[in-house]
Amino acid sequence: MSEQGARTTDLTSAPRGRTWSRSTRWVLACLACVAAGVVLRYLLLETAHPPTKLSPPPRQGLNAPFITSPDLVVEKMVELACPTPSDLVYDLGCGDGRIVITAALKTGCRGVGFDIDPQRVAEARANVQLHEVADRVQIVEQDVFSVDLSRADVAMMYLLPWMMNKLLPQFAQMKPGCRIVSYEFWIDEIMPENIVETPAADGHIQRIYLYTTPLTKSPALEPGKPPVPSDLQSRSREVR
Ligand SMILES: C[S@@+](CC[C@H](N)C(=O)[O-])C[C@H]1O[C@@H](n2cnc3c(N)ncnc32)[C@H](O)[C@@H]1O
Repeated sequence: MSEQGARTTDLTSAPRGRTWSRSTRWVLACLACVAAGVVLRYLLLETAHPPTKLSPPPRQGLNAPFITSPDLVVEKMVELACPTPSDLVYDLGCGDGRIVITAALKTGCRGVGFDIDPQRVAEARANVQLHEVADRVQIVEQDVFSVDLSRADVAMMYLLPWMMNKLLPQFAQMKPGCRIVSYEFWIDEIMPENIVETPAADGHIQRIYLYTTPLTKSPALEPGKPPVPSDLQSRSREVR
């Protein structure tokens, strides 16, 4: 064979060291097919179900958990609501009954505590017995959103922001001059009659809001923003 011919043969055949056997070529071909399948499946799934962006669960709909109001706060709430012995006080989400029982003990008013949780209802009923106010205080297992507020002179609560706003149509059932007292959470865009601030042990300011019915919207307040005592000046301007 000429030198030229030998060079041609060298170019068309694989170099000795890199020659793959038939079985190796099969294995490589199979691996390539599997890899292509994986890529294709990924692309198809991505297009059909784009990844869901995780967002925090909606707050709306989550009922207020059982967290008790501090004793000092309960006392202030009763002072602010100022029930008379002939008043009927509703405690919405009464927990262990501390608000309505304190109101009955301090003022002689009648009261009804409502709670959705049977365990809380049982505790509140036991506390009614313990404090001997069964002649004036009743505890009912009921969702606050189904309570008719037209008979209540005072409604007190420690719930959640969305619950305060959702209760608005029920607050509208209350007679003029009734009081709504809420710990921590306000009703969006409604100017309170009064705000009492008490410092907690950890330094955070605890607020208690007093509203009187009928509730009216105030242009001075922004939804989602708590009213603060300095906002009350604009209430007196609105009333004038
Ligand atoms: C933050 S705790 C307040 C308990 C008590 N009022 C206090 O101030 O110590 C809220 C209470 O509301 C009750 N609650 C939450 N959602 C409710 C609903 N939709 N209807 C009735 N009670 C509810 C809970 O079971 C819990 O006892």
